[in-house]
Amino acid sequence: VSDAPELERMFLPGPVAVAPEVLAAMLQPMVSHRTPQMSARLAAMQPMLQALFRTTQPVLLVTASATGLMEAAVRSLRPAPVLCVVGGYFSERFAKIAEACGRTVIRLRVPFDRPVTAQDLDEALQAHPYVGAVTMVHSETGSGVLLPLAELVATIRARSDALILVDAVTSLAGSPVETDALALDVVFTGSQKAMGLPPGLAFGVVSEKYLAQARHLPGRGFYLDLVSLHESAQRSLFPQTPALPIVFALEHQLRRIGAEGVEARWARHARMRGLVDGWSARTGVAILAPVGARSHTVSALRVADGQAEAVAHAMAARGYVLTIGLPPYDGDFIRLGHMGDVQPGAVEGVLEVLGEVIGTP
Ligand SMILES: Cc1ncc(COP(=O)(O)O)c(C=O)c1O
Repeated sequence: VSDAPELERMFLPGPVAVAPEVLAAMLQPMVSHRTPQMSARLAAMQPMLQALFRTTQPVLLVTASATGLMEAAVRSLRPAPVLCVVGGYFSERFAKIAEACGRTVIRLRVPFDRPVTAQDLDEALQAHPYVGAVTMVHSETGSGVLLPLAELVATIRARSDALILVDAVTSLAGSPVETDALALDVVFTGSQKAMGLPPGLAFGVVSEKYLAQARHLPGRGFYLDLVSLHESAQRSLFPQTPALPIVFALEHQLRRIGAEGVEARWARHARMRGLVDGWSARTGVAILAPVGARSHTVSALRVADGQAEAVAHAMAARGYVLTIGLPPYDGDFIRLGHMGDVQPGAVEGVLEVLGEVIGTP
């Protein structure tokens, strides 16, 4: 795509390349966010946001990065222990935030190169039946592992009435996240991932069950209080001054997502997943996540020992932006993001060059 070179060149697992017309939409004059017109514009964005979240509940929007809603999700939990599934960099962050918010955290540690299983969770819940919430990262951006969410949710519900908090930061908009069908209690993402927007907005959905517990809880804070953010979303109000340029970009991008179709967007991401899998099989370059548990939006690819930086630099010299693995995989793995508005042809292009750089057959 000649007018969007970064969509052919930038393969970070966030922030992603943004389509030029979406960037251009940010250049609108500023307006008051407290007008009926802006409420109408926000209301008009809801159906597409709800389609992405697979929900009929209002999708709340906050000017923060995704970590803001991660913190919001644990901030309003009742003071019971929290079971944090820790299988990677961002799931560990969820646990740290829960601790920072004064919660007692029980870590269910899982090797970073595989998903937590229903059996792991079942055993943890048997050992700790009194947890008030379970945190999980659907698509772990550090490892590219995707969790079998439906199965895990069924396991939790069979043992416990704990709230289920799901980081869907690199799954939502790139693959289905069944917020309502699974009755998830908090689901959130950030703008700079598969939604294909600049960073700066976070989106979330919160269940009635969560809200019913949270409403009675003192000390929920103010800016990131999910109860008030939910109420504002219900009334199509911006509770504080939003990052208007990104809101304008969102408005435009939701129209583009509507034109592509949400299911078609998921299918395109599944195709990109398949392309990386096929390339890995042909070249012998290993993917960290096991078959059947691979994120549709990000892949951690094994390079020679200690060569991750060198490979990323060699790709940069050829005009491609990739990044290295996150600890403990920062030496031997590079990460390829294939999400947002990136097209399958561009993924084929970067893989071809990557193969040359790594020296694959
Ligand atoms: C799975 C996951 N969770 C949380 C975050 C944190 O998002 P942010 O940097 O927008 O706060 C990221 C960012 O890469 C992520 O990939």
